[in-house]
Amino acid sequence: MISMVVNGVRRELQTPADTPLLYVLRNDLELSGPQFGCGLAQCGACSVLLDGKEVRSCVTTLSAAAGKEITTLEGLPARWAKQKGLSPADSEKTLHPVQQAWIEEQAPLCGFCQNGMMIKAAELLERVASPTLAEIKEAFTTSGPSPHLCRCGSYTAIIAAVQLAAKTMANGRQA
Ligand code: FES
Ligand code: FES
Repeated sequence: MISMVVNGVRRELQTPADTPLLYVLRNDLELSGPQFGCGLAQCGACSVLLDGKEVRSCVTTLSAAAGKEITTLEGLPARWAKQKGLSPADSEKTLHPVQQAWIEEQAPLCGFCQNGMMIKAAELLERVASPTLAEIKEAFTTSGPSPHLCRCGSYTAIIAAVQLAAKTMANGRQA
């Protein structure tokens, strides 16, 4: 049996240890945020946070996640609520600033890549509070196994959303 914490809840899994984490999240745990794009760590659609670091869940085995903490897109609101010290009641009404900024900037077009884009943005903004334009571009292009790909070309809106989320998170942390 493999044990891991997914979005704050401990999960015990009987699934074979070499199963891709993406399959476990989508099929066993019914979390539909992470998407199957390429299956080869080449697009970023499947990204999740593993102990706070973005990984491509299509090439991460379940055994590699054993004993670790996984955050999917569904878990970003609670992650932010915990960082901000919100009450459970308030946290249920709160989106992660990255998700809110994605809505305000209308970043998604078809939406398929946007799970990975938001996970990458959340990881970046936990590490760098006010990233420069160059740091944002670096995070989405050369920092991982491949660039985060958007076949619809929503990159400009994504950059604007990251910048907006950075401002919101900076204000939130001061609250
Ligand atoms: S589906 Fe995992 S990187 Fe493309
Ligand atoms: S919004 Fe369609 S692939 Fe990015």
